[in-house]
Parts: sequence; structure tokens; C-alpha cells
Amino acid sequence: MRHFTYRSLEELEAAARELGATHVRFVHEKPRVQELLRRRVSVGDLTAGNSMAIHPMEGCDGTLDGRPGELTWRRYERFARGGAKLIWFEATAVRADGRANTRQVMLDRNTVDDFARLLEMMRRAHREEWGTADDLLIPVQLTHSGRYSHPVRIIAYHNPLIDQKTGTPPDYPVISDEELERLEDVYVDAAGLALQAGFQAVDIKATHGYLLSELLGAKTREGRYGGPLENRTRFFKNVFGKIRAKYGRSLMLTVRLGCFDGVPYVTDPETGRGKPLPHPVPYPWGWGVNPANPLEPDLTEVKQAIAWFREWGLELLNVSLGSPYYNPHIGRPFEKPDEGNYEEPEHPLLGVDRHFRVAGELQRAFPELPMVGTGYSWLQKYFIHAGAANLEDGNIRFVGIGRGALTYPDFARDVIEKGELDESRVCKTLTYCTYLMRQKHNELGQFPTGCPPFDKTVYGPIMKQAREMKRRMQGS
Ligand SMILES: Cc1cc2nc3c(=O)[nH]c(=O)nc-3n(C[C@H](O)[C@H](O)[C@H](O)COP(=O)(O)O)c2cc1C
Ligand code: SF4
Repeated sequence: MRHFTYRSLEELEAAARELGATHVRFVHEKPRVQELLRRRVSVGDLTAGNSMAIHPMEGCDGTLDGRPGELTWRRYERFARGGAKLIWFEATAVRADGRANTRQVMLDRNTVDDFARLLEMMRRAHREEWGTADDLLIPVQLTHSGRYSHPVRIIAYHNPLIDQKTGTPPDYPVISDEELERLEDVYVDAAGLALQAGFQAVDIKATHGYLLSELLGAKTREGRYGGPLENRTRFFKNVFGKIRAKYGRSLMLTVRLGCFDGVPYVTDPETGRGKPLPHPVPYPWGWGVNPANPLEPDLTEVKQAIAWFREWGLELLNVSLGSPYYNPHIGRPFEKPDEGNYEEPEHPLLGVDRHFRVAGELQRAFPELPMVGTGYSWLQKYFIHAGAANLEDGNIRFVGIGRGALTYPDFARDVIEKGELDESRVCKTLTYCTYLMRQKHNELGQFPTGCPPFDKTVYGPIMKQAREMKRRMQGS
């Protein structure tokens, strides 16, 4: 269903008003947009040269042994030349059993030199375009894919609704406390390798339903890592503490935090739109959810966890929501779902509003902790106006863009030089990138992903191949 029909910023603004999306506001004047988005941001001991960030965006294009591949290099060169001063390096597995697909990049002793070369290239390319890379910040997102690991899932606890959605048997074993303790050291080693490669910061990823995000919602888990919030945040306390003890302040600590899990959605056969799975109330599972109405966020625990993360050394937070596997409209409001998935159950502007509301509430609660906001791509070329309003009002410190950076990696240059974006280059949230991500049937067990409609030369043919392969599989 088509929602984005606006021919001007005024029309979009009127729609936000009519829908009650009160957190979606805009700065109109181009020079003011430029001034705000060009604002430098202090992060720990470093300074990022402007307020524009590129979110972690997995390309599923590493080599089978986890090195960045040809298309990974291409993507990061484009990002580095683009002008955003915070480039958040994509989900990078800390161990082979934590990879979500056969081509996810992985940081280990065999691949660290490849990452070092890639970073060197990024800084060189950025310097060539922008004169200096001293104000370019590149954290790496360390991950264990947990329930979405390939080929063997590893789960933190049972939420029967997520089990149903992901085909997890109710008696499937959960990861033990002892294994989690061992995994902490794997994260610490990966952080050391990140430092060796030249990253200034590590992100202990806790979002989108992967292992550590699941752990935060493991209220019904027993033992040292489940139940009370102290236990559910234990992994972070230990990993932060060990990284600080080992590497001091030479490595900055960051987290991409999923701040609201929501509940799993399925397709309503009558309308084709998403609808929440029937759920018990009070809802005993999940993170950032209101137990009395789990369709709504409750940030009480999230704020407590952030306060502790701060005490343990956190210096930058990237705010995200939802899960791409069971409620994709929450994390990335869209025009068109990926093939076979449900249509938006709400107007996407309300999804954008939720992102801004949650991030704003958190940023205002922790004004000394810089945060990166999410949920901007659906606003197309007007996202810079909304981002500027959030910066102006102290609702966020960085405006982060995900899908929009695949279509338009140098959007920041146009902001800096012209104060506006080119309509023909902005992401239209058509979700072919997610479609590609889910395609596994080639000789490497995974198709790479990017933007077929707007980065056609490279991803047009890949899309064609993926479709042909899918047709063949369905025919066989
Ligand atoms: C193809 C693709 C890859 C992604 N890879 C990651 C990732 O590696 N790590 C992560 O935290 N989020 C990842 N995301 C989520 C994005 O970072 C972002 O949160 C989401 O797309 C919403 O932002 P947007 O509306 O600007 O696209 C990915 C999303 C897409 C579509
Ligand atoms: S395929 Fe391209 S246009 Fe579609 S959502 Fe992904 S980045 Fe945006």
C-alpha cells in the first residue's frame, strides 16, 4: 500500500499532524538544517566532525571464512567518501557459531588484517574527500546471532510466541550460564582484535532479537543471567569490565540497544496486513515492553540498564527498536514489505513517531550520553529536516540513516554543500534489500544485499539471479 504521496514538506508535515505523530517535526530553512547537521559531536575523548551517522548495514557479502569481500570493500569506500562522520560498521560475528549466514563478516585472528586494510582504505578515502579523517568515528558492531545463527540456533530463553514465529521447539535447550561466561571472553578477545584492526570503538550489539538482545528480555530464564534486571545485564557488566581492565580507554564502549521488543506479528489473511499474535497480559517476556500492554514501550528498565552501562563505561548509544524477523514495521517503517511478508499494520509515520519518541525520551534522560537515532529512511528526502528538528530540540545527538545510505551513500555531501537531498536518489523503502538478505540458494549459501532499484548496475543482476533461483526452487 502506498503511503508516501507527499509533494512537499508542508504536505508531509500536515499528515504528521493529522495522524497525531507529534514527535515528527521539521526544520524548514535549509541553512538551519545545514548548520544543525554539520554540528560536531563529542563522543568520549573523540569528536565526530558532524552529526550524520550511517547505521550498521550488513551486506552479506563477506568471504566464506568471514573476511570482507569485494562488495564489502565497495560499500565502505562509498560510505567513507560520503561525508557522514560516524560510520557504524555492520554486524560482525565474534565466533563462527554466531554468524547469521555463510557470508557474514567475522573478526578473528585470521581476518583481523583484512579489517585493518579495509579501515586504512576508509580513512584514506575519507581524507581524500574531506581533508582529514581525524574526526571520523568508526565503531564495529560485535554480534552473536543467537536464535538466528546459521546453521544451529542458540537461544537465551523461551518466549512461546517467538518460538512459534521462528519454528523453535518448546524443549529446545537454552544456552547455559557456563557457555555465556565463556562467550564473554570471546567478546573481550574480539574487542582486542577490533583495537588491533584500528577501530576506535566496539558496539556490544543488543538489538533485533540476537543473542544479547534476547538475554535482556529473559525474565523467565533461571540462573545467573535470567530473571532480575541485575542478572539480565550481567553479561554487559562483565564484558565492559573486562574490556576496560584489559584495554583501558584506548577502546570506546558503545551499544546498539533495541529499546522495545514489541510482540511477534503475522499476516492477517483477510487484509494482508500485520497483526500481533494473540498474547497473554500481563506479558511475562521481552525487553522495553509494557507488561500490561506489550504493544507499547515501557522504558523503565531500559533507563536503569543505560544508567548502569554508563557506570560501566558506555560512551555512545545507538537506539533501535523491534525485530526484523518478527515485527519488521517497528524497526524500519516501510512502503512495501519484503516479498511474502505482511503489509504495514499502521501508518509508517506512526512507526517513525515511535522511534523519535523513544529516542527523545532516552536522550533527554541522559543528556551527557550521545545517542544515535533511527527510523529516518521512510521520510525520504525530508529526513534531514526531521533530523535537524530532533537535533535542535536535544532529542538526539546523531541522525542515523540505514537503508537510505545504501541508495545514497554520499547524502551527507549534499546536506553539507546544498542543504537538500536529491529526490531521485533517496530510498523509497521498497525492501528489496531485505528480500536479497533472505535469499540463500546460490553456491555460497547466501546472496549479497544492497539496493537493486537505485544501485542497479551492481545489484540489478544479483536481484535477477536471486529471483530466477527462487523460481527454480519453487518449481522443483
Ligand atoms: C539490508 C539491511 C542490513 C542491516 N544490517 C544491520 C546490521 O548489521 N546491524 C544492525 O544493527 N542493524 C542492521 N540493519 C538495520 C538498520 O541499521 C536500521 O536500523 C534500519 O534499516 C532502520 O533504519 P532506516 O529506516 O534508516 O533504514 C539492517 C537493515 C537492512 C535493511
Ligand atoms: S532496496 Fe533500496 S530502495 Fe528498497 S528499501 Fe532497500 S535501500 Fe531502500
